[in-house]
Amino acid sequence: MTKQKTAELSAAQFIPENKSLKSLKRAAEACQGCDLYKFAIQTVFGAGNAHAKVVFVGEQPGDGEDKEGLPFVGPAGKLLDKALELAGIRKSEAYFTNAVKHFKFEWQGKRRLHKKPRPIEVHACYPWLDEEIKEIKPDLVVCLGATAAQALLGNKFKVTQRRGEFIESDGAPYMMATVHPSSILRAPDEESRHEQMEAFVSDLKRVASFIRTGKIAQ
Ligand code: URA
Repeated sequence: MTKQKTAELSAAQFIPENKSLKSLKRAAEACQGCDLYKFAIQTVFGAGNAHAKVVFVGEQPGDGEDKEGLPFVGPAGKLLDKALELAGIRKSEAYFTNAVKHFKFEWQGKRRLHKKPRPIEVHACYPWLDEEIKEIKPDLVVCLGATAAQALLGNKFKVTQRRGEFIESDGAPYMMATVHPSSILRAPDEESRHEQMEAFVSDLKRVASFIRTGKIAQ
C-alpha cells in the first residue's frame, strides 16, 4: 500500500447526513473505513445513556464485546463496573464507547488475542467517536488508556504524565485520562492489583464529584 493510499483510510465517508446516535450506530454497522471490519464479527458501537454527562472511551472491543456487539461486557468491563460502583457512578448515567469500533486480534490456537490497533486505524475510526461525542454533548470525556487519550488529546499525550488532569478541550468542556481497566487485570500480583484499583477508583471519584457538582476536586 502506498503512503498516499494509507493516509486515505477513514470512516468519514460512512457518516450519514442525518445524524443521531441511532443513525450513526446503524451506519457504523457497514463501515469499511479500514480493514478491521474484514476480521471482526461485527461493529461494536457505543452504548449507554444518550444524555450522559460523562462518556467513557476505551481502546477497542475485545473478544466478548465482538461476540455480544456491546462495549465493556468482558473482563475489563466487569472491572470497570466494579470501579464505577465503588466511585458512586451508576452505569445508567454514563455512555461507553471505544476509539476503534472493531475488535483487532490475532489467532493463538483457537483463541483470538487482542492486538493493539495501529494509529492509522485509530485515526480512520475517529469520525465515529467524534460524532458520538457531538451527539451526546457530555460535560466530561474520560479516556481509558493511551489509545483513547491519544485519539482525543493528540498522539503525543502521555497518560503516565497527565493522568487525572481535567483538560479543557474543543470536543467537550473537559477531557481526562486515566488507565485502562485491563492494565489492572494485568497487574503482576494481588498487592499491586489492589493498589492500582484504588488509584483508578480515586480518579473515578473525582469524575463522580465533577458530574455531581460541576467543580473539579483537587
Ligand atoms: N476494552 C476496551 O477498551 N473496550 C471494550 O469495550 C472492552 C475492553
